[in-house]
Amino acid sequence: MKLGDAIQSADWKNEKHVPAIEAPDVVTAGVPFTVTVSVGKEIPHPNTTAHHIAWIDVFFKPEGDKFLYQVGHFDFTGHGASVKGADTGPVHTHPSATFSMTVDSAGTLVAVEQCNIHGLWESSKEVKIG
Ligand SMILES: [Fe+2]
Repeated sequence: MKLGDAIQSADWKNEKHVPAIEAPDVVTAGVPFTVTVSVGKEIPHPNTTAHHIAWIDVFFKPEGDKFLYQVGHFDFTGHGASVKGADTGPVHTHPSATFSMTVDSAGTLVAVEQCNIHGLWESSKEVKIG
């Protein structure tokens, strides 16, 4: 078995686990642009101590390049735990991260997220140079 065989994908508008990637369709080489990755944009995902999104990783694969390059890793660690027990805490981290980045060429952003009980889910978005 390969790890990739276990990574699920679907349309993020229909499946609450799939990361949504919001980024410009066209960017300028070397100029920072803003990217937001989130889970549950259309259909909210539970955010409880027992069931939550743990992290999102973002990669960029330049067109024609053999390799993926990691852009960022975002941990979401507050899920309602406290000394009183599960789902009694005052803090919930929402599974959304906004950052900026530059690229030198066109390529594809790839996001992978981990639901603590439903495994890995991925999505991608092309970015062109204009
Ligand atoms: Fe889940």
